[in-house]
Amino acid sequence: MRVAIVGATGAVGHELLRVLEGSTLKTDDLLLYASPRSAGTTLPFGGRELTVQATPEGSIDADVILASAGGSISKALAPAWVAGGSVVIDNSSAFRLDPDVPLVVPEVNGAAALRHRGIIANPNCTTAIAAVAVAPLHRAFGVRRMIVSTYQATSGAGQKGIEELLAQTHRVLHDQPAQAEVFAHPIPFNVIPHIDTFGENGYTREEMKVVWETRKILGDDALQISCTAVRIPTLRTHAEAITLELERPATPDEARELLRQAAGVEVRDDPAGKLYPMPLTATGKYDVEVGRIRSSLVFEGGLDLFVAGDQLLKGAALNAVQIAEYLQAQGALRGRVQG
Ligand code: A2P
Repeated sequence: MRVAIVGATGAVGHELLRVLEGSTLKTDDLLLYASPRSAGTTLPFGGRELTVQATPEGSIDADVILASAGGSISKALAPAWVAGGSVVIDNSSAFRLDPDVPLVVPEVNGAAALRHRGIIANPNCTTAIAAVAVAPLHRAFGVRRMIVSTYQATSGAGQKGIEELLAQTHRVLHDQPAQAEVFAHPIPFNVIPHIDTFGENGYTREEMKVVWETRKILGDDALQISCTAVRIPTLRTHAEAITLELERPATPDEARELLRQAAGVEVRDDPAGKLYPMPLTATGKYDVEVGRIRSSLVFEGGLDLFVAGDQLLKGAALNAVQIAEYLQAQGALRGRVQG
């Protein structure tokens, strides 16, 4: 099994290497690609240093390609990768809403991955984290309406987002002006209700991704969703406040019990003991933290909850590797080289 990472030098690429090191995915060979700027640099993997190559224009000799170099690269090159026989697990938004491309969170709709035609899309990070927490509740109680407010880390904008937070914070602390480049405004000591571009309906693309992608993953086009996506000055891990109107009433205890059994979830819910989801505790974790579970004061029988999930892991690298692991476990990833 030969695996390739396109975008290996980026924030998600870095996590892909770490997750693959601990993965059950049987990887005989790992190829690393990035922009020509990074060609020749090395990255550690499994005790060795692997050399990064410039991403070629055409096909890549790999069974699985984990792509995380942005939408335009995926859009331009994925068709050639598929034509070359590779299965592409794409972290960009390029194919997520394509009806021929499964959009997969393995704990929620893993089987959809088996219907791929070469490309499987990894959801938007905010969506994947919410889906892990909401899917078990949707199955049990039927979510009718869902209102999400997000608290998203700077690494959602990639390595350059992290660097802008650190550099600007340093400048502000030294009484120097912070020049915004990656974000629309200075991010230190600020919150910015603006992620991606604004659409005609006043919502951003990031907010609409949560709407469209959640419906596709949960397989429920009737689900009513509204989202406000906000960038905050944290390094890593997205948090989300989620309000759910349910078809069948749920008590917080029922929801907690259900979520304790759910794959990919860690219930962290003891407010008296100061235990609730936070970026500082969820960072580096594979599970999505869920807590502050309480009865909605607005929707009778509905729920309010707070989640925190490492968006570079469950929202990106981990989910991508889990899709490949799922395919391999189902015997759907046998390798291209026929005996
Ligand atoms: P590079 O580091 O050489 O620029 P992030 O999301 O953290 O910004 O990372 C983006 C990833 O996509 C990096 O690995 C980056 O490589 C890669 N990338 C950017 N532009 C290209 C390109 N034109 N071809 C291939 N990879 C690219």
